Amino acid sequence: MESINVNSIFTSFQSPDQLSTEDQKLLNKAIDARDRAYAPYSGFSVGAAVLLDNGTIITGNNQENAAYPSGMCAERVAVWSALSLFPGVKLKKVFISARSENKLVDRPVSPCGSCRQTLAEYETKQNQPIEVFFTGETGVILKAGSIRDLLPFMFDNTLL
Ligand code: THU
Repeated sequence: MESINVNSIFTSFQSPDQLSTEDQKLLNKAIDARDRAYAPYSGFSVGAAVLLDNGTIITGNNQENAAYPSGMCAERVAVWSALSLFPGVKLKKVFISARSENKLVDRPVSPCGSCRQTLAEYETKQNQPIEVFFTGETGVILKAGSIRDLLPFMFDNTLL
């Protein structure tokens, strides 16, 4: 028997001004999208901004529903919107910002499991890492260099 140590490396930015100008712009797009979310049931608004390798930025936000499971996360709204508009395009970066009506979100909000799996699908397909930057309403911004850092042992089509 042996232990396997799986390492994930994240970069931490103390505030937006530590980001590059391009990344600050992307974060602001995610914040703007967050503030347009439709989240009347949870009061938890999430925004995502995706930079494509053709330079286009596509945003999305969570869309909730009275029948709760019918809602959708910001990340998948943004990513699927991007790929429906530009099939085959590569996803370079995803920015995520979240805030709550109920309490201050002062730590980074990372994508849920289903969104990680969705991002994993496209990272595998494009054979190029997707950078994920995620934050709350305040506090640090974390950057993962690849979905692999967020989803070790990920299930992908090479197993099928
Ligand atoms: N949500 C997202 O949009 N992205 C995530 O990664 C986590 C959760 C949304 C779903 C739901 O509308 C609300 O946040 C509370 O779970």
